[in-house]
Amino acid sequence: MQNSLTFLGIESSCDDSAAAVVRVGEGAEILSSVVEGQTALHAAFGGVVPEIAARAHAERLDGCVAQAMAQAGVRFDDLDGIAVTSGPGLIGGVLSGVMLAKGLAAGTGLPLIGVNHLAGHALTPRLTDNLAYPYLMLLVSGGHCQFLVVNGPMSFRRIGGTIDDAPGEAFDKTAKLLGLPQPGGPAVESEAALGDPARFPLPRPLLDKPGCDMSFSGLKTALLRARDGIVAEKGGLTKADRRDLCAGFQAAMVAVLEEKTRRALKIYLETAPPVPALAVAGGVAANARIRAALETLCHASSVTFVAPPLRLCTDNAAMIAYAGIEQFRLGHLDDATLSARPRWPLDQTAPSLIGSGKKGAKA
Ligand code: KG4
Ligand code: ZN
Repeated sequence: MQNSLTFLGIESSCDDSAAAVVRVGEGAEILSSVVEGQTALHAAFGGVVPEIAARAHAERLDGCVAQAMAQAGVRFDDLDGIAVTSGPGLIGGVLSGVMLAKGLAAGTGLPLIGVNHLAGHALTPRLTDNLAYPYLMLLVSGGHCQFLVVNGPMSFRRIGGTIDDAPGEAFDKTAKLLGLPQPGGPAVESEAALGDPARFPLPRPLLDKPGCDMSFSGLKTALLRARDGIVAEKGGLTKADRRDLCAGFQAAMVAVLEEKTRRALKIYLETAPPVPALAVAGGVAANARIRAALETLCHASSVTFVAPPLRLCTDNAAMIAYAGIEQFRLGHLDDATLSARPRWPLDQTAPSLIGSGKKGAKA
């Protein structure tokens, strides 16, 4: 095995164009990580528009790569491979990245590795904390929500996930319904901190069903009804109404994620992992109440809790470069036939999830 490997990573599966250079030797080092978001391009449409996203990726990705290489102070000669997100995600965006990576690999002769975007998220605690396999991962973002037991770089067991909306999507829709700014998560969280969570007892979907699957679309509908009830009664929402609705929504979200994580931990601990750990990834992991609930749960079961820094929890290319290195070390290589996959479940044996979320296909 080569001692040190340096990879360029490329990510374009949703609304972030990203490139990064990562070196793995004794430890893992992020030499550069460039992320160009597209929030402003999609703001007027209330969600990510796939065609706009794809065009923006095609226009920006080569600039991101040039920046990432310059910031890392490396040339293509210094690289050992190129890793690119080849799914799941919005197909036009994924294609932009895959075509660029193929061109670079053909031009430089470097090995090409197609990486599953979710594997990038799932392996991030190894990049940041050198976490030992097997660990439990909770991925909670605007587009994803699943529990994965991570057994190896290409070995994942999904033990639950959302059957409709992702939690970040529910936070964003709640903010929209209450006239709060986007992204909704931080706005709802700060309003909730000032509200009474008991005034609107919103449903805790699927808590009455066994297992680790989740559902958040009913919660959003319940919030809409509660809002409309107040508007019908008083003609509008006061500041206090808005805060109480946010607090009620967040309390329901915390309760669901807490209980489902308790069940997922139980399943994971049955495998008797030598160093039990729960890691989180995704923008929703920034929520202090959710994070505190998960931390308390882990503490009670003597499980290490790992929350990578937020810039590495959200979409980025460093996680793709790192996952590419781990896969390359296993001997996994792609070639010019690499294709973009809109749907690509990490755990091929688990039944497929039916939701498809505002940020593209779930897997
Ligand atoms: O991982 P991410 O940056 O993007 C993808 O979804 O891929 O996650 C963004 C999501 C948004 O829906 C945003 O509202 C949510 O994460 N989010 C939060 C918080 N900060 C961001 N949700 C709840 N509480 C927060 N503090
Ligand atoms: Zn993601």
